[in-house]
Amino acid sequence: MIVDANEEEITRAAEAIRAGELVAFPTETVYGLGADATNGVAVARIFEAKGRPRFNPLIAHVLDIEAAADLAQMPEPALRIAHAFWPGPLTLVLPLRGANARLSPPVTAGLDTVAIRIPSHPVARRLLAEAAVPIAAPSANPSGRVSPTLAAHVAEDLAPHIAVILDGGPAMAGLESTIVDMTGEAVLLRAGAITRAEIEATLGARLGHSVAQGIKAPGQLESHYAPRAQLRMNIQTAQPGEALLGFGPDPGAVLNLSPAGDLREAAANLFAMLRALDAVGYARIAVMPIPEIGLGEAINDRLRRASAPR
Ligand code: TXA
Ligand code: MG
Repeated sequence: MIVDANEEEITRAAEAIRAGELVAFPTETVYGLGADATNGVAVARIFEAKGRPRFNPLIAHVLDIEAAADLAQMPEPALRIAHAFWPGPLTLVLPLRGANARLSPPVTAGLDTVAIRIPSHPVARRLLAEAAVPIAAPSANPSGRVSPTLAAHVAEDLAPHIAVILDGGPAMAGLESTIVDMTGEAVLLRAGAITRAEIEATLGARLGHSVAQGIKAPGQLESHYAPRAQLRMNIQTAQPGEALLGFGPDPGAVLNLSPAGDLREAAANLFAMLRALDAVGYARIAVMPIPEIGLGEAINDRLRRASAPR
């Protein structure tokens, strides 16, 4: 089920994609649950496996900007940030190119926009090249739960649904891609592995805040990224029975996202440590304060959703 992501196994996985089956694969952000985005039956399997509401659209992964432009209109500012950050952990929401869009409608949940990402991870790229179709891929976790950063996480959660799980080691960033809506004024829909400041510097403009979040990115609203344990954030001292998840030097922490207080390290550790505390069986997790700067915006976003009422 879990196989080493070598050339032969990637070839076999690409064949599985073309046959309409599900393949889990590593990306530079988190592991994805992939299917042929042009095959409605294959795409339906994603929603079924994740228990994902059909109104929540998927990201179409492609190999290059040409392939992106086949699916979507790419106005000038979109091209500028595409060239700056692709391949990489950026997703752009763009107007669907009507007539020749090859995407199966459930990928976009019937919207007239499409979320597109060009991943940089070599395994993801080879899979895309060999499958030679756009690959629809959400994070490979049951809907609402913590995203996977290891092949083993995917197997724990979703093994019975998946033809091949390609093991490419730990996902590097540990946080999902940054999503920017480029259908009008540029709006940050989901903080992620590329910081707001990096994108604003390239755009030469501030990113707008998503006002109609619930409509624009349905998956962004409800409780999400949730471990089984209840979670509280911005806590210095845990209560009895509560596991303290540290940031910065703290001898009292059960696990520490980054003893050195490094946000990149904390991002890479976040999901795996939430899973590890769940596995120990803690009913409650208290997370120390994470500064709301750089990657801290995305880390705190995930923690806020994980601590939202369920
Ligand atoms: O890093 C990532 O982006 C990972 C890897 C596997 O690429 N994928 C990922 O997919 O995080 P997912 O499905 O877990 O999150 C995609 C988000 C969802 O919140 C969805 O609502 C939003 O993208 N989305 C997709 N299409 C959209 C659209 N047309 N308009 C607005 N939001 C959209
Ligand atoms: Mg997800």
